[in-house]
Amino acid sequence: MITLEEFRLIRDYVEKHCGIHLSDDKTYLVETRLTTMMFEQGCKTFGELYNLAVLDKTHTLRDKIIEAITTNETFWFRDLHPFTIFAEVMLKQYADEIAAGKRSKIRIWCSACSTGQEPYSLAMTFLEAARRTPKLKPEHIEILATDISSTVLFLGKLGRYDNLAITRGLSEEFRKRYFVQNNKIWTICDEVKKMVRFQKLNLQESFNHLGKQDVIFCRNILIYFSLEFKQDILKRIAALLRPRGYLFLGASESIIMYTQEYEMLRHAMGLYYQVK
Ligand SMILES: C[S@@+](CC[C@H](N)C(=O)[O-])C[C@H]1O[C@@H](n2cnc3c(N)ncnc32)[C@H](O)[C@@H]1O
Repeated sequence: MITLEEFRLIRDYVEKHCGIHLSDDKTYLVETRLTTMMFEQGCKTFGELYNLAVLDKTHTLRDKIIEAITTNETFWFRDLHPFTIFAEVMLKQYADEIAAGKRSKIRIWCSACSTGQEPYSLAMTFLEAARRTPKLKPEHIEILATDISSTVLFLGKLGRYDNLAITRGLSEEFRKRYFVQNNKIWTICDEVKKMVRFQKLNLQESFNHLGKQDVIFCRNILIYFSLEFKQDILKRIAALLRPRGYLFLGASESIIMYTQEYEMLRHAMGLYYQVK
């Protein structure tokens, strides 16, 4: 069993390296997620595992611990509203701007993309809009998908999903239109795949180098961070957005209490934010 002292050491280590804040009632989570690793590393206690991670100059063990602690839960068109709003508000506006010669690119950043369902859902939303609006062409959009975990990025880049993952949130119509089936594995088609670029990025680090964005998805990740870190990220996201750019959060995340930089808007029963 993990001791309180060991839990606190690991809790502070995790927060320092990825921002995830574990409250004192998460001892069980740390225990269950790190036990196999502890034995694999030849350690008898969680304290030994912690010491090994601190001494590991390659950071391999640190990355493994972060990957074990983070939650990668995701699915296609999660919560649906953000994708409806993206099509009905943003893409409509951008299509008009493109037609008027006022815009040539739409830049989207998925900042905690997990195994790719969120950025690929955005790409499919774009392709659906482009079928109805010939002014929109795939070369108009850039979707950047980032995450702290190399494992989820690898899987996202592969774009291969099993029978369970493929059904979660995806209609049969889209499955047939945008995936190729091979036995129990479904692979995203090249048309969608090439619209998304995956890159490793820890939200604790500066993301100015990504350049200005029109829309940022930062969904189902802020809930794991401390109030200070949430405020810091939201401030930096506001600075990265183009004037009047848009931000989407997870269904259970609200930011109105933490920041003055955004205006909260509603469309089709969903919420989104626009930088002031
Ligand atoms: C619950 S998933 C959310 C996936 C997707 N946005 C969605 O809503 O379906 C959270 C993701 O955030 C990533 N993550 C955790 N800490 C991070 C950090 N400091 N920087 C970047 N990504 C992080 C995890 O690896 C995980 O893939």
